[in-house]
Amino acid sequence: MLIPLKKHIKVLSVSVLFFACSPPTTPEIEPMKIVDHHTFAKPEIAVITHLNWDADINFNTKTISAEATLSITKSKDAKEIILDINGLSIASIKDENGKGLTFEIGKEKPFHGSPLTVHLKNNTQKISIRYSTIAGAEALQWLNPKQTADEKYPFLFTQSQAILARSWVPIQDSPGIRFTYNAHVKVPEGMLALMSATNPTKVSDNGVYDFVMDKPIPAYLLALTVGDIRYQKLSERTGVYAEPSVIQAAAYEFADMEQMVEAAEKLYGPYQWEVYDLIVLPPSFPFGGMENPMLTFATPTILAGDRSLVSLVAHELAHSWSGNLVTNATWDDFWLNEGFTVYFEQRIMEAVYGYDYAEMLALLSLQNLKEEVETILTGDHPEDTKLKLNLEGRTPDDGMTAIAYDKGYYFLRLLEEKVGREKFDAFLKDYFTSNAFHSMTTEEFISQLNVKLFEKNGIPVDENLYNEWIFGQGLPANCPQPVSDRFTNVERVVEDWINGTTIEELFTPEDLMAQTWSSHEWLHFLRSLPEDLNKEKMAKLDAVFQFTYSRNSEILAAWMVLVIKHQYNSGYENLENFLVNTGRRKFLSPLYAEMAKTETGLVMAKAIYEKARPNYHFVASSTIDKMLDWKD
Ligand code: BES
Ligand code: ZN
Repeated sequence: MLIPLKKHIKVLSVSVLFFACSPPTTPEIEPMKIVDHHTFAKPEIAVITHLNWDADINFNTKTISAEATLSITKSKDAKEIILDINGLSIASIKDENGKGLTFEIGKEKPFHGSPLTVHLKNNTQKISIRYSTIAGAEALQWLNPKQTADEKYPFLFTQSQAILARSWVPIQDSPGIRFTYNAHVKVPEGMLALMSATNPTKVSDNGVYDFVMDKPIPAYLLALTVGDIRYQKLSERTGVYAEPSVIQAAAYEFADMEQMVEAAEKLYGPYQWEVYDLIVLPPSFPFGGMENPMLTFATPTILAGDRSLVSLVAHELAHSWSGNLVTNATWDDFWLNEGFTVYFEQRIMEAVYGYDYAEMLALLSLQNLKEEVETILTGDHPEDTKLKLNLEGRTPDDGMTAIAYDKGYYFLRLLEEKVGREKFDAFLKDYFTSNAFHSMTTEEFISQLNVKLFEKNGIPVDENLYNEWIFGQGLPANCPQPVSDRFTNVERVVEDWINGTTIEELFTPEDLMAQTWSSHEWLHFLRSLPEDLNKEKMAKLDAVFQFTYSRNSEILAAWMVLVIKHQYNSGYENLENFLVNTGRRKFLSPLYAEMAKTETGLVMAKAIYEKARPNYHFVASSTIDKMLDWKD
């Protein structure tokens, strides 16, 4: 995909406006190429501007049959439009007059699916594609009633990011291409359907629902979920959806959502998507959260009962600016979505829960980052530690590492420290406003930074900063270092324990009752424990703190890694339970990886995986398949 870009001036890639304003021709402006290796689309020839989706969701056949009508803007002599598809079965393609159009499906490319080339007539402005999804469509997870909380109805959810939208809608699946959409969806009676759009709050009589997304979004933000779902309003513009037995817990856990939206608006400008709702999905949802516009999709593993894991909500909410308003132009620029979002998430957490609280989160993120930098640097792709990636020929999923998230965050935090918070916030507010509903490349971001942050404030540009952080490998030496007294205290406790003070002396029953430590301190405690733990010490810790039965998924997952490492058999049963019942990849990967380190562990891993795999979404099972060398 080639898109002309002006340097130093606000412009962006293929938006709906692209053909309305011709590319700049002034001599000082060099054309810049945006290459999205992960789409077959050629938007400079013909680009979609609107999707009208009419779909029937069939739980018996586990397929969606639909008609996708795409509005097109094309260059004068365009003869065709190229869409992305992955495993769709195409029945027919017609123009707006109901006349058939010829089309071809090109060769399939690993991870990418295939190009669908539709031949256009001179005056074609719309094409209607009749198609159905295939069994195993990668974005879709069809759950039977047993795999849901209430076990009464089946469930369906989609996960389109990064390039899986093409497995359920024929579309130009590039984050640099935006379109609006409408949908008319038929589901079995008694079930509720929700999308990344205006949503119903009640089950309809006939199973039919209509949706509108009138702001242009990229394909990776297309989302649908269908199930036995209820709604609970939290404020004028926020609310939660969940299965009936989960709705109350969800409403309690996310009670601070309105406060978070207000904190976010105060930082970087008005919330642009009208409502901010969140749905708690069944436990097989492969991610912590997904920022589908108007409706964040979330894992139930953040329902800790004490609101301790709500930074995930701050994160997905922050994407309403970073990602959904200003979008990474390609998956090589993924850090622009995630690094900005972690930075913004931190700022929301600080505003709502205080500086000390946010600094604990920042330190956990730094620990993650350091670990992952080491792992990646010693692996096959050390260049993946650069913020600007090159994922050509690979799955964009490979870019979903702590680099985009945490190195991205620390780079922005360093910029903040360099210029001061006031100037940095003014820059960011303007960045989100002036680039709203457009996509952004790393290079364009740098040029805006130079002009609108550094030059504007009379601060010299330091190219080294970009060379080290964005185009360089590893973690630069000038990485900011957060300080947390609360974490220092945790480290002192661990030290004392190592040096012989007993747990009973360190934690009096009153301490334990008072629950003075937050879940983040417990997580830090677990991560700080010495390497040479043994079964006896594990048993002692478990007897006092009951980690094996923790209700907090982060603590449980961290503990289970130790259970495997130190062969603490008493934890095995619950380890298996956890792995069979949870599909969140972030928890699964370290656990299977830890088991795979020893021969007996690998046998155990495979036995558990055999039972668990049918509960996992493609995104999770494809990762674990690779790890365990699993052949389906
Ligand atoms: N957009 C991501 C999830 C994602 C990224 C899906 C890339 C597919 C490809 C989402 O915002 C996210 O970052 N989720 C995190 C949670 C967050 C608190 C770090 C997750 O799911 O772990
Ligand atoms: Zn994110």
